[in-house]
Amino acid sequence: MEKIVILTGAGISAESGLATFRDAGGLWAKHRIEDVATPEAFIRDAGRVHRFYNTRRAQAAGVRPNAAHAALAWLQAAHPGEVVIVTQNVDALHEAAGSRGVIHMHGELARALCAACGHRWDAPPEMSRADACPACGACACRPDVVWFGEMPYRMEEILDHLAGADLFAAIGTSGQVWPAAGFAQEAAGAGAHCVEINLEASAVASDFHEARQGRASRVVPEWVAGLIGEAGVQSP
Ligand code: APR
Repeated sequence: MEKIVILTGAGISAESGLATFRDAGGLWAKHRIEDVATPEAFIRDAGRVHRFYNTRRAQAAGVRPNAAHAALAWLQAAHPGEVVIVTQNVDALHEAAGSRGVIHMHGELARALCAACGHRWDAPPEMSRADACPACGACACRPDVVWFGEMPYRMEEILDHLAGADLFAAIGTSGQVWPAAGFAQEAAGAGAHCVEINLEASAVASDFHEARQGRASRVVPEWVAGLIGEAGVQSP
């Protein structure tokens, strides 16, 4: 049965009220990446980095999934084949909509990581450099989020999924951050039909066979309804 692999980016959470990164007024218009999203920033000023993620954690806790998240959960439940969701997002909106097995390649706001021993635990609402690791006691806790210059999580597993995909969709991502920006190429190379669902053409739009432009909360439910309505997914 046809395997579907879906990559999501900040655009799928925009209509839930979470800022994207590169749109006008986005997070990188208000913060310098070098100040809040690199290992060097954390060494230089852990408090500033924690404040940035504490704010995002509080915002993420206050929003709800939108129709696009719900449609992907519906697809996972209704499609007879495997549906794998890989997200660049660190919010938990896919899980809140009912999706299962979501691969957070850039980590999760809801998790904490000890930079000293590698222990992971559920993050408190507010983290600070004074927090001690529950396992080793060191005061070296950080958000379990992948920073620029660090390796994304579960890449081998993701590449295996892409190698076996019949249909690949990227939803709400600008295609400017690698390795996620290269996933359509990987999937197309393995014979998958690749669809880009976004407000506008991304930086890697030419890697896709099909484009559906518009707000995710409208376009994704339409796309999913079409897939399920075809009595399972037929590659076009
Ligand atoms: N519906 C569909 N697409 C949307 C919507 C919407 N309502 N709103 C915005 N978009 C699109 C924008 O057009 C843009 O192409 O979502 C994309 C968001 O792009 P970015 O802000 O660059 O976010 P993303 O691609 O997820 O960034 C990737 O960069 O900074 C790092 O780690 C961070 O995971 C992030 C990665």
